[in-house]
Amino acid sequence: MELRDPHVRHHRSYLSALDEFVAAGEAHYGRLPSLPPEDDFPGVDFTREAIADPAGFQALVDFLLEQRDPAAARPRAYVPFTELWMIEGDDDPEYVGRISLRHDLNELLLTWGGHIGYAVRPSARRRGHASTALRGVLRLCRDRGIDPALVTCDVDNLASRRTIEGAGGVYEDTRDGKLRYWIPTG
Ligand SMILES: CC(C)(COP(=O)(O)OP(=O)(O)OC[C@H]1O[C@@H](n2cnc3c(N)ncnc32)[C@H](O)[C@@H]1OP(=O)(O)O)[C@@H](O)C(=O)NCCC(=O)NCCS
Repeated sequence: MELRDPHVRHHRSYLSALDEFVAAGEAHYGRLPSLPPEDDFPGVDFTREAIADPAGFQALVDFLLEQRDPAAARPRAYVPFTELWMIEGDDDPEYVGRISLRHDLNELLLTWGGHIGYAVRPSARRRGHASTALRGVLRLCRDRGIDPALVTCDVDNLASRRTIEGAGGVYEDTRDGKLRYWIPTG
């Protein structure tokens, strides 16, 4: 598995992963970006139906890449982020999950969301993808001067908890049902 930039070449596997999250009752982990309009930002509301069309999927990829730029327009409540896709296979590279790094912590991210979020499609789990992806993004954190990085998970999310602890997460506390860990990146 490799971490790669979002790209339209993964259209088919991205859609099938999205459908897999829904079928597994985990639609929230496959949720598409939906941000309200504000000032210069026109708002985005990507849907499964819209991104089934190649032009709609291109718009999603463009949005994800654009949001890495601190100067890109966005609502005030959102911070710049880098989303990377977990891609598996050499001959027919397929999307198996995503991981995103929020460049800054606002109030909500400090309490709840943390710097890093990830999800692996159900059929590709327990093969080490989340652990590998997290290690990769922790290197990115280090390069950006983020040390330590905050990673959180629901109190009952054993898989994510083990992923975080395996990456060296140091537990700080639990707030609003989220376990909060700081992971040294240096
Ligand atoms: C959490 C998640 C990303 C883990 O992905 P994954 O690729 O299966 O994880 P890995 O294979 O790298 O496993 C990481 C650790 O978790 C453990 N683990 C994975 N799934 C587990 C499960 N269902 N129950 C218990 N432990 C589990 C693994 O054994 C491993 O621990 P170890 O190193 O001590 O053996 C995946 O389950 C997922 O996408 N869940 C839904 C989205 C989500 O919860 N995102 C995190 C939000 S904070």
